[in-house]
Order: sequence, then structure tokens, then C-alpha cells
Amino acid sequence: MLVLAISGSLQAGSANLHLLQRAVKLSPLGMEMVIFDGLRALPHFNPDLETNEAPVPVQEWRRALARSERLLIASPEYGHSLPGSLKNGIDWAIGSGELERKIVAVTASVSHRERGRRGLKALCDTLGAVSATIVGGEPIVRGPAFEVELKALLQALLVANEI
Ligand SMILES: Cc1cc2nc3c(=O)[nH]c(=O)nc-3n(C[C@H](O)[C@H](O)[C@H](O)COP(=O)(O)O)c2cc1C
Repeated sequence: MLVLAISGSLQAGSANLHLLQRAVKLSPLGMEMVIFDGLRALPHFNPDLETNEAPVPVQEWRRALARSERLLIASPEYGHSLPGSLKNGIDWAIGSGELERKIVAVTASVSHRERGRRGLKALCDTLGAVSATIVGGEPIVRGPAFEVELKALLQALLVANEI
């Protein structure tokens, strides 16, 4: 099972990117995880930009989504919502269909249990627009249970069925 892993944070030292890097190492048997690092290259969503064909970074993003059976998204909360760059990426794939009915594991790497929930809620609401099946949806606290919770999320992603 090919899983595309996407960080909602673009910063190099991102805790969410680190979570994805751990997830690559902890992937259960039968799951291959690839991190997508192209959100930063996407132009702002504008249907006018694909009058002939979509910009190359958009084509690469859509191809990566189409190739992957499932997704893992780890995202921070910015301003009580999901980061604009992640929303922008999702907007580029709403009309073209690669995200339609996808099974998506969603989490956030957080310092405290109560952090990041509004961002994940906004992300899940947006994924509802493509009828995605959400797996997890809870933040994972950076602490002693981090790897156990991450492994449980990956296992749930492996066995999840489309609704
Ligand atoms: C501009 C900005 C806005 C933020 N807004 C929120 C917020 O509304 N709620 C929250 O819990 N954390 C907020 N944060 C904290 C980030 O979610 C937190 O630093 C997160 O761990 C960053 O993830 P990263 O390390 O993967 O980049 C904000 C951070 C920044 C820089």
C-alpha cells in the first residue's frame, strides 16, 4: 500500500515533518510511505492558470496523489485553522478528482493535548468536500507515548475501509 505523507508545515525544523519522518520508519509491513515536499511550489489556486494545462508543480502534486492509495497528513494549526499552503494544495485537487473518496489519516504533532484541534477540525471539514474517509483526526503529543500513538494511527490507516 503506497501512502503519500504530507506536512502542513513548510518550515525545515517542522515537528509535523519530523512526525512524518518517524512514520516512514515505523510503517507496518505492507505499507510504503513517501513524503511529498511539493506544497511550497504550488502557485495560489486560480482556475485561470489551467486554461490550457495545469502548472508543472500542480501536475506533479496531482500525479503523486493519484499514484497513492492513502494519505497521511500531519499539520499544525495556524490562526485556529489549517495552514494556507495545505488548503491551497487541497483546492488544486478538488476539481481534478485525485482526492475524491481517499482514505486519509490526519494528525498533528503537538506539545500539549489541547493544542491543534481546531486546525485538524478545519482540515477534516475541507477533506469532507472530497468525501474523504478520515482515520484518526487526533493530535499526537510529543512525549513518552508518541511512537505508540503514531504506530496505532499507521495500523488504523492500513486496515481502514472506505465508508
Ligand atoms: C502564525 C502562527 C499561527 C499559529 N496559530 C496557532 C493557533 O491558532 N492554535 C495553535 O494551537 N497553535 C498555533 N500556532 C502554533 C503552531 O501550530 C505550532 O507552533 C506548531 O507546532 C508548528 O508546527 P511545525 O513545527 O510543524 O511547523 C501558530 C503558529 C504560528 C507561527
